[in-house]
Amino acid sequence: MTILITGGAGYIGSHTCVEFLKAGYNIIVLDNFCNSDRQVIDYIKQISSKNFKYYECDLCNKAQINRIFMENKIDSVIHFAGLKSVPESVKNPLKYYENNITGTINLLDAMNSHQVVNIVFSSSATVYGMNNKVPYNEDMPLSATNPYGWTKVMIEQIIKDYAAANTSFRVAILRYFNPIGAHPSGLLGEKPEGLPSNLMPYICQTSIGKLPYLKVCGTDFETKDGTGIRDYIHVCDIANGHLKALELLNKKSGVFIYNLGSGTGTSVLELITTFEKVNEMQLPRMNCNRRPGDISVSYADIHKAKKELGWKINYTLEDMCRDSWNYIKKFKECNNI
Ligand code: NAD
Ligand code: UFG
Repeated sequence: MTILITGGAGYIGSHTCVEFLKAGYNIIVLDNFCNSDRQVIDYIKQISSKNFKYYECDLCNKAQINRIFMENKIDSVIHFAGLKSVPESVKNPLKYYENNITGTINLLDAMNSHQVVNIVFSSSATVYGMNNKVPYNEDMPLSATNPYGWTKVMIEQIIKDYAAANTSFRVAILRYFNPIGAHPSGLLGEKPEGLPSNLMPYICQTSIGKLPYLKVCGTDFETKDGTGIRDYIHVCDIANGHLKALELLNKKSGVFIYNLGSGTGTSVLELITTFEKVNEMQLPRMNCNRRPGDISVSYADIHKAKKELGWKINYTLEDMCRDSWNYIKKFKECNNI
């Protein structure tokens, strides 16, 4: 079985490549490296002791995508490639609509031309918007609060419409909550670039002294300690969810939607103190205002993924904090930052 992994050099994609290689699949990576390094390809090969092809290809370029489908017999697609920064999407919405939506339409079109019917798509908890009650389940109404989030809502709809018109099509839409952590080898993780907008990358950059202090954004939420609550999940558990989802598509046709989270809420302060405890350090921090549009609590109902995919969680919050630190420490040593 040959799986095309778009965005396979990225944070979640690279861990998923390892998972599929370990399980004996043949993979092909497609990435334009706009938010990843070519070196990641070597690290995936090193960890898995397996070889595979990769293409430097932009999903906005139809001819390049078609060439990949022409040159290879692809059985299934896992589609990670996309831009993911919420603040950047607010500043430059057209870039997000163009890259994420046009890219996905081009991919679906190429799959259609080459009779490829299985796709696993990276969606996000962001599609639950601001008006649902926790825990979020897959049947709740969707909305978004920023252009990035709308690209996810729109792509889900495009894929569902396409599947309705092409009944042989098989789709798993996976809605990730807050993926953090890194591969235990320390070779793969979330690349520290620019000023991070998410909490764990911020913690990591502060832990190596790249940023002077952590910002706790909002201490007046209606939560146990006043800080925002999220559902953190180890990136290797997320990667394994893709394997389980593709196993399902190999058996059953239809459109399947699953939350991938831990099913538990952790506050900002709890995450920081767990990171400090596990890695034996103290991080300087400062209380700040809430970020505009931030919700107080988000966590998943994960019963459906557990029951229908047989997916289970193997990593704890402590593992996530330990592996994040292990990766950033190694990255700092290798890159002299
Ligand atoms: P990432 O930026 O690390 O990986 C995305 C990869 O896609 C990068 O390697 C990038 O170079 C590539 N890419 C982007 N646009 C492309 C294009 N037009 N053509 C070819 N390659 C392109 O991001 P990630 O954290 O690994 O996220 C993967 C997917 O999961 C994204 O679709 C993201 O929106 C979604 N997601 C991520 C999170 C998260 O917190 N990390 C949460 C929910 C959903
Ligand atoms: N936070 C801080 N300080 C920071 C950054 C974040 O205190 O420097 C707080 C936030 O206010 C929030 C929590 O940490 O309470 C988590 O924030 P993240 O930005 O890490 O995560 P979000 O859940 O807010 O958003 C992320 C992505 C979205 C995605 C969502 C669900 O940014 O795109 O997870 O997957 F939709």
